[in-house]
Amino acid sequence: MKVLITGAKGMLGQDMVAEFQRRDYEIHAADHKALDITDIHAVRKVIEALRPDVVVNCAAYTNVDKAESEPEVAMRVNGLGPRNLALACGATGAVLLHISTDYVFDGEKEGPYEIWDAPNPINAYGKSKLWGENYVRSLMHRYFIVRTSWLFGKGGRNFVTTMLELAKRGEPIRVVNDQRGCPTYTVDLAKACADLVESGCYGIYHVTNQGATTWYEFAREVFKIASVSVALEPVSTRDFPRPADRPRNSVLSAFPLENEVGYKPPTWKESLFIYLLNAQPKRTQNSERNW
Ligand SMILES: NC(=O)c1ccc[n+]([C@@H]2O[C@H](COP(=O)([O-])OP(=O)(O)OC[C@H]3O[C@@H](n4cnc5c(N)ncnc54)[C@H](OP(=O)(O)O)[C@@H]3O)[C@@H](O)[C@H]2O)c1
Repeated sequence: MKVLITGAKGMLGQDMVAEFQRRDYEIHAADHKALDITDIHAVRKVIEALRPDVVVNCAAYTNVDKAESEPEVAMRVNGLGPRNLALACGATGAVLLHISTDYVFDGEKEGPYEIWDAPNPINAYGKSKLWGENYVRSLMHRYFIVRTSWLFGKGGRNFVTTMLELAKRGEPIRVVNDQRGCPTYTVDLAKACADLVESGCYGIYHVTNQGATTWYEFAREVFKIASVSVALEPVSTRDFPRPADRPRNSVLSAFPLENEVGYKPPTWKESLFIYLLNAQPKRTQNSERNW
């Protein structure tokens, strides 16, 4: 099977490439420089020349706060990008696996969000990602839309690396304790995506590590595993204003992932432990926060 992976040098992109390589597929890893997904001509040219069986889109505009001040840029990458991929995949018969986000939901639901719950994004980033989902859904028959959340992985700066960097300053750290979600290890997400592709069961999926938490509890677990002693203070979203609103609940229900791939991903605490044990978090050019 021939697989084209876009955004291949992003945090998820790197683990996605590694996961598909491990399975002995023919992998074509395209980073931003090699393929700009906002360029319809380039997208068509590459996909028509390569004729991949599957395209996995890990490319995205991921700076949630900055999207508020440049919504058009976010819309171009997260909306028109997947549209371009959907058009080119549709024309050549390739399957598209597109990564989306928990931030398509408004957070007002009390329980976990199911795949059939209606999205209602409350920030520019979420709106741009929903726009991308809608293009894929309306232009294609054979696609996967995989919504995920609160990513951490060795290929990029993330909440875990930020917490560990802040701790080095030796000052108290304030972290919000009234937003709930599911931290997710990019290695586990990449594995589930590859398994979904192999299942052939197209559609929308929610893929996260098991278990839900708050950013404050997430930080507490990071420092516990890393044996870092730090003054950690829980605060409310109101005390910590940021340009983009965040859903207070973006916990995603895993149904029907287990039915299709035959397992549930590990809990976020298990995967966080493995990540901190194995990964040497490194800085990338993408140094602004994307959580
Ligand atoms: N991070 C999270 O917590 C989180 C949560 C939920 C969902 N997601 C979704 O998960 C996916 C992967 O996120 P991530 O954390 O791996 O993001 P990331 O590290 O920011 O990677 C995104 C990659 O896309 C590339 N890119 C940006 N614009 C592009 C364009 N026009 N054409 C081609 N490539 C482009 C970036 O390259 P440059 O840096 O060179 O521009 C970067 O390598 C995204 O769809 C994101 O929306 C992420």
